[in-house]
Amino acid sequence: MSKKVHVKGTLVELDGDEMTRVMWKMVKEKLLLPYVDMEIEYFDLGLPNRDKTYDRVTLEAAEAIKKHWVGVKCATITPNKDRIKEYNLKKEWPSPNGTLRAVLDGTIFRSPILVSNILPTVKAWKKPIHIGRHAYGDVYKNQEIRVEQPGTAELVFSPADGSAPTKRLVHEFKGPGILQGIHNTDDSIRKFAKACFTYALDQKVDLWFSDKDTISKTYDSRFTQIFREESENWKTEFEQAHITYFFTLIDDAVARIMRSEGGILWACKNYDGDVMSDMLGSAYGSLAMMSSVLVSPSGQFEYEAAHGTVQKHYYKHLKGEKTSSNPMALIFAWTGALKKRGELDKTPDVVAFAQQLENAALETVQSGVMTGDLVKVAVPSSNNKVVYTEEFVDAIAANLRRKID
Ligand SMILES: NC(=O)c1ccc[n+]([C@@H]2O[C@H](COP(=O)([O-])OP(=O)(O)OC[C@H]3O[C@@H](n4cnc5c(N)ncnc54)[C@H](O)[C@@H]3O)[C@@H](O)[C@H]2O)c1
Repeated sequence: MSKKVHVKGTLVELDGDEMTRVMWKMVKEKLLLPYVDMEIEYFDLGLPNRDKTYDRVTLEAAEAIKKHWVGVKCATITPNKDRIKEYNLKKEWPSPNGTLRAVLDGTIFRSPILVSNILPTVKAWKKPIHIGRHAYGDVYKNQEIRVEQPGTAELVFSPADGSAPTKRLVHEFKGPGILQGIHNTDDSIRKFAKACFTYALDQKVDLWFSDKDTISKTYDSRFTQIFREESENWKTEFEQAHITYFFTLIDDAVARIMRSEGGILWACKNYDGDVMSDMLGSAYGSLAMMSSVLVSPSGQFEYEAAHGTVQKHYYKHLKGEKTSSNPMALIFAWTGALKKRGELDKTPDVVAFAQQLENAALETVQSGVMTGDLVKVAVPSSNNKVVYTEEFVDAIAANLRRKID
């Protein structure tokens, strides 16, 4: 076997939970460590360790990504009431992704992993549709109140200079109800817009932005306005690249996306991006074929899979049953991080290795060897064969070895 490729800079690794944690280990042991010599700063974001460290580990991991520029993250549980019982937690810790996004103030870009034998459900789609999800504020950084009795709900802003507060009546409650306060900042929206224009230009794809500014005439309108202002700054570069910027309402964007042929970066507000990326993931074949990267305004990159911890498969795994969970997006998280590390460190052999690993993974699926989620959506062929996760990783490893040796 040829010499291992050496990664010069430090990679920040964020381990996670359940089935993805099991697959993560497999991917590292079989596809990375035999070929790559890397300096890793490891953070265990598995729920038991988040609980043990009072969630400090998540903040430390975010700081490490700030310091070293490139991170790679496994999927993690966002605790709810059931999880508190299941893991005997001290409290309902916040979503690690929410914490990372708040610290890095980044934008999440999601792109499908395309293979020739899985055709998108939407026949019109010929090229990838990338999603740019604003990763700050809105409902993910909200305050909520369960209203138990009649009363008045007001929105109040008190200026720091002591001048008179601005007040709006939200609702006069006649009985029980619910209340929510959300916010965003010009700075974060502008960074989001800049990141989207940069990414669209980098990928040479049209940029769409959508919101609901006809209803939300101050909040969403601010997004529209900032994107419009930024589009002026990027006009010349976009024209030279033969790409365009287009704004439309979210409902119109959803209708149009179904008829478009793809090749678009669709910039979405935080919640829209959360929902739409799962829709696209599933329409392109499987949630497990959607990669994700959080890009901070200063240029830090955190790569991950778009999917969760594949909880049901994990319970089977715990009972000793084999599962056919799909590690593709986890593999692409690692290759994305390695490519970025190679680009920053100017080590083309690291980029080349990551590309070889991606090719080995894609070719494995294209040869018909695939996990259960993919066989249901693949073009029918006598070559198609469902394998368990470990066999799938072994098939990729064999392909990779052939390329490298
Ligand atoms: N980025 C993240 O860390 C992240 C994202 C979403 C959910 N979560 C967490 O994951 C846990 C499970 O959430 P969920 O069930 O809503 O989401 P999920 O993505 O784990 O699963 C949703 C569905 O897709 C299937 N699926 C997803 N990934 C797959 C894969 N790699 N191979 C085969 N099938 C796959 C699952 O079997 C399930 O039917 C929750 O605790 C949630 O908090 C984490």
